Amino acid sequence: MSHNPHDQTWKQLTDHLGEWVTESKKRTTDGHVASYIPELANAPADILGICIMDASGSIAAAGDSNFRFTLQSISKVFTLILSLMDNGEAAVFSKVGMEPTGDDFNSMLKLELVEPGIPFNPLINAGAIAISSLIAGKDSTEQIARILTFFREIADNPSLEINADVYKSESDTAHRNRSLAYFLKDNGVLDCEVDDVLRTYFSHCSIEVNCTDLARMALVLAHNGVDPIRNQRLIPRRFVQIAKTFMFTCGMYNASGEFAMNVGLPAKSGVSGSILSMVPGQYGIGVVSPPLNRKGNSTAGVHLLGKLSQEFDWSLF
Ligand code: DON
Repeated sequence: MSHNPHDQTWKQLTDHLGEWVTESKKRTTDGHVASYIPELANAPADILGICIMDASGSIAAAGDSNFRFTLQSISKVFTLILSLMDNGEAAVFSKVGMEPTGDDFNSMLKLELVEPGIPFNPLINAGAIAISSLIAGKDSTEQIARILTFFREIADNPSLEINADVYKSESDTAHRNRSLAYFLKDNGVLDCEVDDVLRTYFSHCSIEVNCTDLARMALVLAHNGVDPIRNQRLIPRRFVQIAKTFMFTCGMYNASGEFAMNVGLPAKSGVSGSILSMVPGQYGIGVVSPPLNRKGNSTAGVHLLGKLSQEFDWSLF
């Protein structure tokens, strides 16, 4: 019988994850499935799935962990990393800032109020649109191909694809994002055409995954850019450090302070009800439950991560 702390945590996880999921699933009734992208409204409102992956690739999963969903804002973490790899820090931070906003994720308030009119950070919509424009490639077709290749590599899953229905649904209804992009263009933040950058942005938001893919991607971040399973560096350490810092301060938008207080782990949410999180140095975590709270974060997902953090004392503070 081993007394390795990892083995003990892992046993407790696999023994209890199912009951914790059942408990947190009750919180799905506190939220509403996103409908401003009409296709997302088709997601079932009563599901919760989680996958936790350790450095050897072992998986603890429970609930609806095979449910498929689109990355939405979680993709912004990885396009940020790719744009840093393509351009370096100085160029990226000439187009986006490093501070939380306290505003909603799709707010345009500060673009006009604060000088210079660059987005406050790369995880709000305005910032992520600016980041999409920095991905290397002669046009959106090339940029999208590079993004897909990079995401497949991080997820170790060559079959990741863009969900065409979600893409079209977002593109047809993205009046707010279009206005953000025009603002950015007018402020001199975008060098390319608005329609082109939005194609890239909607495409990476529409990449379809499941909880295992999320946990696999998170595992690489948890290990500072090295994939511990293939024992291969995929991302320079500094760029993971930047990404994780943003996840901490802005990853749950204007609920990031509350999440840091209750969970204390780097995380990024998406309006599909997904959350990517990690226990640094140890586990990658993927969660999905579509009903969202007012701030755009999964109600049951946040509750479940809070329970796990409490149970295993995972807060970094
Ligand atoms: O641009 C949008 O509104 C969506 N594609 C992504 C927003 C999102 O996921 C915000 N997250 N909670």
